[in-house]
Amino acid sequence: MNDSFQALVLDKRDDRLHSEVTEVDRDSLPKEEDGNVLVEVHYSALNYKDALGLTGSGKIVSHYPFIPGCEFVGKVVESDHLDFKPGDEVIATGFGIGERHFGGFSQFAQVPGNWLVKLPEGMNMRDAITIGTPGLTAMFAIEALEHEGVHPGQEVLVTGASGGVGSFSIALLHKLGYHAIASTGKTDLSYLTDLGAEQTIPRSELEGTPRPLARQRFDAAIDSIGGNTLANILSQTRYEGTVAACGLVGGHELPATVYPFILRGVRLVGIDSVMQPITRRVTAWERLYELIEPHVLNRMVHEIPLHDVPRQAEAMMRGELSGRTVVRMNG
Ligand SMILES: NC(=O)c1ccc[n+]([C@@H]2O[C@H](COP(=O)([O-])OP(=O)(O)OC[C@H]3O[C@@H](n4cnc5c(N)ncnc54)[C@H](OP(=O)(O)O)[C@@H]3O)[C@@H](O)[C@H]2O)c1
Repeated sequence: MNDSFQALVLDKRDDRLHSEVTEVDRDSLPKEEDGNVLVEVHYSALNYKDALGLTGSGKIVSHYPFIPGCEFVGKVVESDHLDFKPGDEVIATGFGIGERHFGGFSQFAQVPGNWLVKLPEGMNMRDAITIGTPGLTAMFAIEALEHEGVHPGQEVLVTGASGGVGSFSIALLHKLGYHAIASTGKTDLSYLTDLGAEQTIPRSELEGTPRPLARQRFDAAIDSIGGNTLANILSQTRYEGTVAACGLVGGHELPATVYPFILRGVRLVGIDSVMQPITRRVTAWERLYELIEPHVLNRMVHEIPLHDVPRQAEAMMRGELSGRTVVRMNG
């Protein structure tokens, strides 16, 4: 590789954030004590967390100047880790990449090998990044529901349905035989019905002031919104149903009461994809490869060049994007 490469660098000057694609020295890539792997990044993807960091809407980035991008896929160029060799196709998600450790909006990235997963045999890099963090998160959420006894045929609500986690939740639930109900703020519902939503409800139905208990409507839920929405879901979940909490697009607070838990046996489970052990990720990737069909990925994906990331981050914060925004590193 050359001594320098292109990356999107986020900096803070006069208390204001600036981001631009610029030339970066190879020496500035972070190096852990051992097991470093240098990857030529082919694709990254824009996640809600990246949008929070790039727009300054949330405290995501630990220091400046910084290369954001919470995930990437690419080919190993150099490896100090026994499990990886040049040419291996790998994906990296979580572990503080794009938060504390330089991320994937870059032609090259360097991370410890024990943060990497080899792509399942036969999966191409673009499909892998399209699945990425939201696909994994949706898979972990469904596994959490399965663990609590939720089963195919039951009605599962998905909020933020047209977003990354929401889209994969709908597609996976449909494929597994659940009755997926999509809650969305979008007016064009064909995207969600194409993914497999059997019913859609307007986002506003779950945004009002929550009641301690309300009419039982859902057997289970996968929620990316938090705040009033999550509290309303808890009060509308059927007896002994399970709610998987994944995100906070609508707020980090939870204005709920204990009544759904103590009078209906409702369960609330937390989902974290960032620090999941590699063994669990490998199993989830294999399951995702088996369950997600290429036409589903094609329906979700929207590809952008690196220089367009800041503009798309603003659009993501306005809730205007659907599906997955994949960032092409070359060209
Ligand atoms: N726990 C984890 O490990 C994990 C992993 C990945 C993501 N997350 C979190 O999950 C959440 C969703 O992530 P994502 O990547 O799916 O984001 P995303 O692609 O931006 O999707 C969020 C969706 O939420 C809906 N929405 C937007 N603004 C809203 C608002 N003000 N109030 C209510 N709904 C709104 C929109 O869907 P509709 O228009 O269809 O309503 C939007 O597409 C984020 O909070 C993210 O940080 C957590």
